[in-house]
Amino acid sequence: MSLLDDVEKVLISEAEIKERVVTLAAEMNAIYTDDDLPILICILKGAFLFLADFTRHLTFRHELDFMEISSYGRGTTSTGTVRILLDLASDVQGRNVIIVEDIVDTGNTLTYILRNFAARRPASIRVATLLSKPSRRQVEVPLDFVGFEVPDEFVIGYGLDFAEQYRNLPFIGVLKPEVYQNF
Ligand code: IMP
Repeated sequence: MSLLDDVEKVLISEAEIKERVVTLAAEMNAIYTDDDLPILICILKGAFLFLADFTRHLTFRHELDFMEISSYGRGTTSTGTVRILLDLASDVQGRNVIIVEDIVDTGNTLTYILRNFAARRPASIRVATLLSKPSRRQVEVPLDFVGFEVPDEFVIGYGLDFAEQYRNLPFIGVLKPEVYQNF
């Protein structure tokens, strides 16, 4: 069985993602200048492809850093526990920070991240997320840049995983139920 056989449907195509990444970057280019010198924080692992594509369309000077957060076990529902697996290399005090997320689901992970960042005293903080699942929100979170809103389905591809797999798919898709059931 190939990886693609596990996919029930494509929700957002590769071409749609490419187009949206460009318009999202344009929204950000209209806000920041070189003088702001923001630092984009890629939340690993899910946001790695989004960040890689997105950063290449930004025209203002910026820096990148990475933080790995774990909120899910190997399943499709949150364990409720948020942990920092890898912390930033940079000091963000007094800096303009842009958090880059893959998906905001219940909002618990982002709430944790924003609280954690507030303690580091950045000059400003904005959030860019590729996907948002508003119907699942448990905590309201401020989202400044949203790629796509998705329905209440577990999605994979373009950085997002199920049990660490499927991140390499170039589109956002939904898995066949038997993949979860047989897991
Ligand atoms: P939240 O704390 O419920 O908002 O979940 C946020 C994190 O859970 C995201 O950064 C993802 O890593 C993961 N997640 C939530 N929904 C999905 C999904 O549909 N597919 C893959 N990962 C997901």
